[in-house]
Amino acid sequence: MLIRRITCARALPLSIPMATSPLFSHLKPFSPSSSLPPRVPSSSRSFPFSSLASASPSKPSSKRANPPIAALVEVGGVKIAKDDVVRESDPTNNVPDNIFSKIGLQLHRRDNHPIGILKNAIYDYFDTSYSSKFVKFDDLCPIVSVQQNFDEVLVPADHVSRSYNDTYYINADTVLRCHTSAHQAELLRDGHSYFLVTGDVYRRDSIDSTHYPVFHQMEGVRVFSPDEWEGSGADATSYAAMDLKKCLEGLARHLFGAVEMRWVDTYFPFTNPSFELEIYFQERWMEVLGCGVTEQEILSRNGRKDCVAWAFGLGLERLAMVLFDIPDIRLFWSTDQRFTSQFSEGKLGVKFKPFSKFPPCYKDVSFWISDSFTENNLCEVVRGIAGDLAEEVKLIDNFTNKKGMTSHCYRIAFRSMERSLTDDEINQLQWNVREAVQNKLHVTLR
Ligand code: PHE
Repeated sequence: MLIRRITCARALPLSIPMATSPLFSHLKPFSPSSSLPPRVPSSSRSFPFSSLASASPSKPSSKRANPPIAALVEVGGVKIAKDDVVRESDPTNNVPDNIFSKIGLQLHRRDNHPIGILKNAIYDYFDTSYSSKFVKFDDLCPIVSVQQNFDEVLVPADHVSRSYNDTYYINADTVLRCHTSAHQAELLRDGHSYFLVTGDVYRRDSIDSTHYPVFHQMEGVRVFSPDEWEGSGADATSYAAMDLKKCLEGLARHLFGAVEMRWVDTYFPFTNPSFELEIYFQERWMEVLGCGVTEQEILSRNGRKDCVAWAFGLGLERLAMVLFDIPDIRLFWSTDQRFTSQFSEGKLGVKFKPFSKFPPCYKDVSFWISDSFTENNLCEVVRGIAGDLAEEVKLIDNFTNKKGMTSHCYRIAFRSMERSLTDDEINQLQWNVREAVQNKLHVTLR
């Protein structure tokens, strides 16, 4: 089957020599609500909908919110058909059309795009500081096995990130990677000791100006052999932790200049100890990346028993938003010349000039929720209808009546980054959202 082939396919490193949501760090590893769904959801727990891009068949929409979707994309020389990724009738699949449409776009490989410019600036730092020893991968297929995405980096079986509510599953064993850490183990097994992996990652999430279900991460891993720390006077873990901090402080200075920094202890399943680096920038503390000393088990399982290593992962959008003054994460996907023409290769930190600001239009939707209702599912429905015209979905009212029924009211902000929307268009979108919310989420509109 094609998926198998895709899953196994590996791209070559380049011949020329990081807004991520805190999915792994801020969630308690064993929170009571994090119980694992069955690998194949049973019908009673099954995902409430599969593909969401189709608007109401009974009401023709005047304008398409979503552009047409190519049926075949190519990543690292591998062809991926829409049917391989989006399967409406399969209860183990929760990938909507609009997510498939992002596969293969690879913003991080465009030298004139803020995400590509930032990637290249980070490459420059590593090339200069480590005489081009870091091998770079930026074309690895985002379709990975559950084993790669979770098991091989020791994500506990009951970790919330494995749920169908948080991750896009192609089937019970295959996902769209939710972090670039999915490639760590395989690259270690291949014998790499210095590597950077950049790629698009996919997470089901809320809708606002800093969250988008597809974003870009860069992962870095460095492995040390015993002769590197022996004689330093430090134990292996402290040696790696010190080296890691020095390296990443240098990276932060390279990108942000002489900023104040602080290290915060955190938790990741794959590193111990684990840290977050924060910088004081534009009058607030901002998280820049997550990192730590690689769990020994990952090294020993992958043929590097006597070694020690560090790893970091950073969200490129989060950093690019502050470096380029980009106010809304949807803009990264804009093909509008007025956006794309403002950036050019090698120019990190050119400030984005908003070309116009169209007013948002707010619409409320209220309903009695069911037990299976989640906000991520609602956001998926809204994105399926409105695409990037959905700017924010916010809970504005929540109450439970005497009968124990819970009502939620969400305010949806519709706004285009590129043009003004007509009243008709917004009413049509809202009408379609109400219909889809009712049909797909099994809630009762009020
Ligand atoms: N994979 C982590 C995330 O997505 C980031 C990370 C990578 C943390 C490597 C530590 C080491 O949140």
